[in-house]
Amino acid sequence: MSSLSVNHLLGIKSLTKEDIELIFKTADNFKDILNRPIKKVPSLRDITIANIFFENSTRTRISFELAEKRLSADTVNFSASGSSVKKGETLVDTVKNILAMKVDMVVMRHSSPGACMFLSKNIDAQIINAGDGTHEHPTQALLDAYSIREKLGKESFKGTKVAIIGDITHSRVALSNIFCLKKLGAEVMVAGPPTLIPKYQESLGVKVSYHVQEALEWCDVANVLRIQLERQDIKYFPSLREYSRFFGINKQKLDTLKKKIVVMHPGPINRGVELSSDAADSDQSIILQQVENGVAIRMAVLYLLADKSKVL
Ligand code: CP
Repeated sequence: MSSLSVNHLLGIKSLTKEDIELIFKTADNFKDILNRPIKKVPSLRDITIANIFFENSTRTRISFELAEKRLSADTVNFSASGSSVKKGETLVDTVKNILAMKVDMVVMRHSSPGACMFLSKNIDAQIINAGDGTHEHPTQALLDAYSIREKLGKESFKGTKVAIIGDITHSRVALSNIFCLKKLGAEVMVAGPPTLIPKYQESLGVKVSYHVQEALEWCDVANVLRIQLERQDIKYFPSLREYSRFFGINKQKLDTLKKKIVVMHPGPINRGVELSSDAADSDQSIILQQVENGVAIRMAVLYLLADKSKVL
């Protein structure tokens, strides 16, 4: 297989296992290039990509921009603050105006679940979802799974146990990771306080635990998620101190385990809340490898989707 089954990357849900494996294989090639003294290839020369961010971002935004530059694409960056969105312009009008300036692909982060899907039905360009509210964050899940594959050194995810720990309810990373890891054949558990785990999670084919120690003892890899206070309009737990004590991951909890598990976090970390510094900075952590792999994964996604674009 040399082509994706989709025209846009809206979520992991719409990808096949073969799509994910093709993205990984393509990312392997780009990772080799990124480790050379000259990191740039001409693959997307003459393609123009708009990075449209309606929500804050550090990693995803810089990672996409670097991926585009490494592929020799032209890029424009848009953030809602300081734009005509503040004057009442609609999402479709904003993006149609940007596309009128001969833009070929759109990378978008938006606070509304489904915003990228909506856009894909209303404009004529390839759309990549860089996170839509509490729905999906597909490139994060791809780089997470790619980093697990790299760290464990095996192609197959069969028998690999991944625990996703923390604020599952408000996390787009959790849903995309569940779809991605299940498609690849991994076993997945979600763990955290009952108030932060949606009902019927088992219907996604995952195990559920309300005890972090149980999840840590079960898993090979713990992907620790941020407490998303900005999305919480009610109190889901009494205090951050209590959350940290009962659900936070620290080196002491890791050291009680009989095996050395891999620790991940998509960032940004609330240090001392869901993850302590001694765990985040330990030799079990692959957090910065995740960030590094994000560029190769996003190069792969851009390259494979540009192939679907009418301009190439
Ligand atoms: N992981 C992630 O999406 O980080 P940013 O919000 O900084 O892009």
